[in-house]
Amino acid sequence: MEFSQGLISAAYIVAALLFIFSLAGLSKQETAETGNWYGITGMAIALIATIADPRVDNVLVIVIAMSVGAFIGLHLAKKVEMTQMPELVAILHSFVGLAAVLVGFNSYFEMEHSLPLTFTETQQMATNIHLVEVFLGVFIGSITFTGSIVAFAKLRGVINSSALMLPHRHKLNLAAGIVAVILLINFVQSGGSDSALYLMTLIALVFGWHLVASIGGADMPVVVSMLNSYSGWAAAAAGFMLNNDLLIVTGALVGSSGAILSYIMCKAMNRSFISVIAGGFGTDVVVNNDTDYGDHIEINADAVADMLCAAKTVIITPGYGMAVAQAQYPVYEMSQALKDKGIDVRFAIHPVAGRLPGHMNVLLAEARVPYDIVLGMDEINDDFPKTDVVLVIGANDTVNPAAAEDPTSPIAGMPVLEVWNAKQVIVFKRSMNTGYAGVQNPLFFKDNTQMLFGDAKDSVEQIFKAL
Ligand code: TAP
Repeated sequence: MEFSQGLISAAYIVAALLFIFSLAGLSKQETAETGNWYGITGMAIALIATIADPRVDNVLVIVIAMSVGAFIGLHLAKKVEMTQMPELVAILHSFVGLAAVLVGFNSYFEMEHSLPLTFTETQQMATNIHLVEVFLGVFIGSITFTGSIVAFAKLRGVINSSALMLPHRHKLNLAAGIVAVILLINFVQSGGSDSALYLMTLIALVFGWHLVASIGGADMPVVVSMLNSYSGWAAAAAGFMLNNDLLIVTGALVGSSGAILSYIMCKAMNRSFISVIAGGFGTDVVVNNDTDYGDHIEINADAVADMLCAAKTVIITPGYGMAVAQAQYPVYEMSQALKDKGIDVRFAIHPVAGRLPGHMNVLLAEARVPYDIVLGMDEINDDFPKTDVVLVIGANDTVNPAAAEDPTSPIAGMPVLEVWNAKQVIVFKRSMNTGYAGVQNPLFFKDNTQMLFGDAKDSVEQIFKAL
């Protein structure tokens, strides 16, 4: 089956619109599922239209490659735990980067073979534009490729998640950028120089590796979404090289939505967007965990159940530990039991709670917690002083008062859920260990805070039974 160019263009426009509807749908929990379906339909249309393009003469190869990819993808998607999602996303970004590099090299070598002997001015211009596309595609693709591999390795714990602090690291990054610009000029002026392309690829691969290696743990969420953005721009560059309008549009959508998400996350963590993407912002602060905050108070599940029964308003703030313990189902049951007793129960979600954007929202939706009682940080932060009991279930950095009170803290300035303003705070965790950012949490030592030690799922189940 072959489509005419007109039909392909029409299919591409429909697919692009569906991708936009998909993004719009994904921006709200209630419409996220419909958004997913828009995306799936758009991608199906895009694939069929691309394969049916008369210029494609190796359909069998494409179908075989897609079948192998689909098999691996389905296997991975079924197997992956929610907590491993960021690392899966990171490694997928690396494939997009690698694809852009391969498309760039392929496009460059094909072009060399088809050069006419004499150039008109228009041909010269078109060649120059194409060379810039190749250069930028390979450059962004290479950075995305190695950067994503480092992000994957850090998130999986294969390499240390702390920031690599090479001497003069910012100057090294700047030098790499300047050399890349010089190579670009040389590449275009020489009508395509193999050595400039190879050298730039090498520099970009090292640059991508260094850029992410020099970013510390607390900034990782931003890195993942920045790499998402880079992978979009790499795909858009590949779209220019392949003359594929849909790939340009899709790449631009991914690129800009990733950049917007990174910006929103930077704001949520009080990080400077430019500094984070330039690598290593905020990592010069030395973590000092020697401060003596005094003693903490322990509590057991039965006493928490009694305290909850006496409360009128309860807020639950989940964090990464709830995901690890898979405690969302008993948490939902407990919240229903409290509601049945006439207690007002709501959930407070920090924008970077867990390990990926929207992590907690997905877990709570999975456990069927109604959307209208799940509120974002800005919507609920003022309500803590009016709250009787706050249950901090596996959250740590996102409820750390040091962010607001200690200007020397590595997470200083990061907006947090101000749970300590409530009358009573119960913290569910297994030990006094620190959270992701590796900083101690003074909340645990406050007079109105009590620690319920143990696996979050077991603790919540015990409270549910006692209720
Ligand atoms: P974290 O600060 O990561 O703390 C999680 C806490 O859960 C730990 O203190 C841990 O203490 C506890 N925990 C772990 N397993 C548990 C279990 N089975 N039962 C009970 N407790 C358990 O959590 P957070 O408040 O959600 O903060 C998220 C952090 O991750 C932030 O620093 C954020 O910047 C970073 N981050 C976020 C993202 C995104 S986009 N959300 C991506 C990457 C990184 P114990 O070991 O003592 O139990």
